[in-house]
Amino acid sequence: MNSDSDLQIAGDILEVPHLLQPPREHPSTVSEFVGLARSIAADRSQWEHLVQYDATSRWYHRLRTGPGYEVWLLSWVPGQGSGLHDHGRSSGVLTVLEGALTERTERDTRALGAGSQRVFAPGYIHEVVNDSLEPAVSLHVYYPGLTEMPMHSAQCAPAVVTA
Ligand SMILES: [Fe+2]
Repeated sequence: MNSDSDLQIAGDILEVPHLLQPPREHPSTVSEFVGLARSIAADRSQWEHLVQYDATSRWYHRLRTGPGYEVWLLSWVPGQGSGLHDHGRSSGVLTVLEGALTERTERDTRALGAGSQRVFAPGYIHEVVNDSLEPAVSLHVYYPGLTEMPMHSAQCAPAVVTA
């Protein structure tokens, strides 16, 4: 081969070590956090035995921590909801592991079945409710870890008209 050719200059990709690094131990991008949540969702042995259902108060369990992020497991009995809140300066990934949840924002309401994922940035305001008749389990990745969850008044909830 002619050593002056473009092919020779481009080289063999297998000899370029920086392109072949193994997956990072800890996620640091949105897609990596989404991937982390998907991998935990797919491996029930990581969370199934930890889940508890509490009808009197919200149940949550910190499943994992890493540099700059936390992973929480939450359960929702029918009718339980978060109330309208934001996440302080945290971004997050919400993944439904089991059952179904309903997410309400100022703009819309969406049904989240098992496997559904929502990614949100700091300042995102929502309410999550289990409107179904079965318990639900969800996984929440926060980056940075959640230090506050300010509650909002229900100004964007639909008005309830009573007689
Ligand atoms: Fe939230």
